[in-house]
Amino acid sequence: MQPAVINIFEKAAKKAGRILIRDFGEIENLQIESKSVGDFVTNADLKVEKSILETLKYFYPNYTYITEESGIIKGDENTIVIDPIDGTSNFIHGIPHVGIIIAKMTNDEITDGIIYNPILNEFFWTSKGKGSWCNDRRLRVSNRSNLSDCLIGTGLPFGERIYKNYLSEIDEILKTTAGIRRFGSAGLDLAYVAAGKLDGFWEADLNLWDLSTGTLLVKEAGGRISKINGEDWNIDCREILASNSNIHIDLSEKLSLL
Ligand code: IPD
Ligand code: CA
Ligand code: CA
Repeated sequence: MQPAVINIFEKAAKKAGRILIRDFGEIENLQIESKSVGDFVTNADLKVEKSILETLKYFYPNYTYITEESGIIKGDENTIVIDPIDGTSNFIHGIPHVGIIIAKMTNDEITDGIIYNPILNEFFWTSKGKGSWCNDRRLRVSNRSNLSDCLIGTGLPFGERIYKNYLSEIDEILKTTAGIRRFGSAGLDLAYVAAGKLDGFWEADLNLWDLSTGTLLVKEAGGRISKINGEDWNIDCREILASNSNIHIDLSEKLSLL
């Protein structure tokens, strides 16, 4: 049974999802305004976020909201984190790999969250102690333990986000695993680790709204999350290493040796 908070997040995401679907169909008419290289904000991001906020504020008028497009709306200690479209570059290019992310956080801990891809109708949800789910299916991380069998997701940096070691990281992982995928939505990448499709995932230079629900999805599906060097992850971390647990240390060592 979905907890009440997930029902409300689902209501907000499914309503906003209709806007996203409509705009996805009319992608060529969208006005695109460049925020910085490779990082676009579209009318759709703004409209979707506005719709989510409208629904959530009806149910939770006093909460604090941390949002990608509207910034921070200060309220009480209960906090909701929103990324209206994770995968905006995919969206702009008509690639249906996008997600609406909404998460709840109390005392700096993510306790509940959803990621909804309205185009593929995939609704991921998780709550602390209640497991991870996609539609009606319970999720479980993969069981692979040899890196050489493992498919690893990442987010390639671009523009100003390029950092020194990223080519050596990719080189190291390509040499020792079954390959790398770059799908373009950090939230869904983490959901795919939770679902056992990807065996691991790493990315640097992310924001809380990218990572929020995904980190709990992985943990509740039996996986592990940490900083890239293996240290404990917390909500102030801008990077993530996620895995099915079995390969976590190996993966962290490969990425930290550089
Ligand atoms: C982006 C996606 C992408 C990741 C970027 C994020 P956005 O979020 O999650 O996969 O590589 O770092 O910024 O901008 O599409 O919400
Ligand atoms: Ca994002
Ligand atoms: Ca976004």
